[in-house]
Parts: sequence; C-alpha cells; structure tokens
Amino acid sequence: MHRRTLILAAGAAALVAAISGAQAQETVKVGLILPLTGPFTAIGRQVETGARLYLQQKGQTVAGKTIELIVKDDGGVADATKRTAQDLIVNEKVSVLAGFGLTPLALATAPLATQAKVPQVVMAAGTATITEASPFITRTSFTLPQATEPMADWAAKNGIKKVVTLVSDYGPGIDSEKAFSGVFTKAGGQVENLRVPLANPDFSPFLQKVADAKPDALFVFVPAGQGAQFMKQFVERGFDKSGIRLIGPGDVTDDEVLNGMGDVALGAITTHHYSVAHDSPENKAFVEAFKKASNGTRPNFMAVGGYDGMHLIYEGLKKTGGQGGQALIDAMKGMSWTSPRGPVSIDPQTRDIVQNIYVRKVERRDGELYNVEFATIPNVKDPVKAAKAN
Ligand code: PHB
Repeated sequence: MHRRTLILAAGAAALVAAISGAQAQETVKVGLILPLTGPFTAIGRQVETGARLYLQQKGQTVAGKTIELIVKDDGGVADATKRTAQDLIVNEKVSVLAGFGLTPLALATAPLATQAKVPQVVMAAGTATITEASPFITRTSFTLPQATEPMADWAAKNGIKKVVTLVSDYGPGIDSEKAFSGVFTKAGGQVENLRVPLANPDFSPFLQKVADAKPDALFVFVPAGQGAQFMKQFVERGFDKSGIRLIGPGDVTDDEVLNGMGDVALGAITTHHYSVAHDSPENKAFVEAFKKASNGTRPNFMAVGGYDGMHLIYEGLKKTGGQGGQALIDAMKGMSWTSPRGPVSIDPQTRDIVQNIYVRKVERRDGELYNVEFATIPNVKDPVKAAKAN
C-alpha cells in the first residue's frame, strides 16, 4: 500500500472511532426498575410518574448529553429485579440503576451495583440498612427509623402510656417496630408487638388481639397502598368508636389512598417526610403538575422519592459532565436542594437522605382528607446509622 493510502486509511479508522465514541457518549441511560404489575403497582406508578415529571420539566439534556429513561417492570419480585438489573447493566450499559419499590428488590440488586460500579438510586424502599449493602447505593426516599422515632417522642409526650404495634413482617416493618419500641419504652411507655404477613394481609385476628389489650394507641406500619385495606378492617371491628388512637409513620395514611378512607381516618397522628398538603411554593407547583400528568391522582411520598431521585441523577451528571461510575456516586454525596417535601441533603458518609420529619394530623379541608403538618423536626438523619457512627 502506498504511504498516502495508509495515512488515509488510518485517518478514516480514527474518524470512525471518534464518531462512534461521540455517539456512545451522547446518551446517558438510566434504568428505572419498579413494580408496575402485581400488588405493589401503586408504588411503582407513583415513582414513575414523579421521575418522568422531573425530566419533562427540566428537559432530557444534561451536560450536553441526552438522558434516556428505560422503565422496566419487576412485578415486585426480587428475582425479576435482579435479572432486569443485570440485563440493563450488560446489554443496555446503563449509567444509573434507579427505582426499587420494596426493600427486598433494592437488596437483591445491591451486589450487582457493587460489581459493575453502577450507582443505584433507591427512590422508594425504606429499610435502614439498604445503603450499607453497597457503596454505590444512595437514597431519596426515607428510612423507617428516621420517620418513626419522632412518633414515639410525640406519643410519650402526649399522654399515651400503652401502645400495641402492628407492622408488616419484613424489613421496614421490623425497623419501625424497633424504632418505636426503643424510644417509647425508654420514655417509660409500655409496648406489645404484633407482626402481620406482607402478602395478602388479613388484619382481623390481629385487631382482635389489639381490642383485648386495650391500649391507648395502635401503632401501624403497612407499605404504601395497603392502608385502605387496613382501615376497612379497622372500621369493621368498630375501632373508630373504641377510643384507641391510631398512630404510626405516614405510610398507613398515604396521600393517594387517604381520601378514600373516609371519616375513620380523621384524627390519626403520623410522622413522615412528605404530605401533599405541605405548605411551600415548591410543593404547590409539584402537586399541580403531578395531578395534571396523572389524571388528577394525588402524589404521595413515593412520587416525591421518584422526582427527587431524578433530580439527584440530573444534578450529579451535571457535576461529572455526564460520567457515571465512581465519579457519579461521589458527585451525589453531600448534595443538597429544596424538594417539594422541604430541604433535603445526601449524607456524604452514609449516602442516605437527611430531611425534615413532620408531625401530622388527618383533617378534612375543603371536603378532602389531608395529613396536615403541625410540627417539624428538622434535618433528621437515619438514627440507626447515626448511632453506629458515634
Ligand atoms: C419497603 O419495602 O422498604 C417499603 C415499601 C413501602 C413503604 C415503605 C417501605 O411504604
């Protein structure tokens, strides 16, 4: 081959490499894995709508690259989550894994995030230890101990002496049971613990035990979406007239199903990180846009986890110029912003979310039921990890 031809060939090869490299870099793929069928569909829908809303508002381009959201349904089954995550890493070459509607689904994916060095943004699940399962996990939802300890404080200070706890028998339920019981008994309260299966729960036999124990309050944790079924059985057993107060983290009165519960929910006191009634300009705009995007469905705390999760990904990519991997998870550490829920940040040590927890009471306003916030505990860290650090 002549020297000139050789140079031309080499030049062409370099050009092809440069073009395909540029194309590869033009798109940043985000894999969003959620339960979009099965018993936990409501969680998946809320997170997905929140995440899509953020992209719709901010535009798909960040750091000169297009964000491509790939949404996958795991049906709420951990094996499917893991398989899907593997496929997204290997075949789609995603820069970020996101979503994770329930604790077992987030935990099943953690080893893959570690191996592939792909940041995993947990937008829904709430067991405290999740962020410890991989150095690539961060979270924009909440932890049950974070949301629950203020409930125990409030109960102890407001004349409640005897409590029965009733929780879903898996990670977040056990976390909330422990958090409540620990703080409440330290303050001199008396507790009895009951656990109900996560799948197809029948609350009746447990409610009979509660009636027999005659506590001042019943503390409940069920995952988002299950509150309506619990409340139905609560009324059927006449608890609304029993004088036993209903308390818990805010999952049981989640904003999507609360309005359908009727007067039985009135007066329930819960502690949580988000209420659709949160009074801020950011939240008013968020609620209005979410309802518009979802045929009038109210956003709940899962929606805000999805919306903020996309914010964290978007701002993280801005900082890294579109790079994923270790650079991206490092960029996310310490980030702070104003969420529809109030001020939030990512703890640089634990990669978990730091946020306000609000004490709320269910009230009727303009004909609708709301969790109306009446006290704020600012900047709460996950207490389980905070205790380990001390
Ligand atoms: C969880 O599985 O971690 C979970 C699910 C729903 C909730 C809270 C926690 O409302």
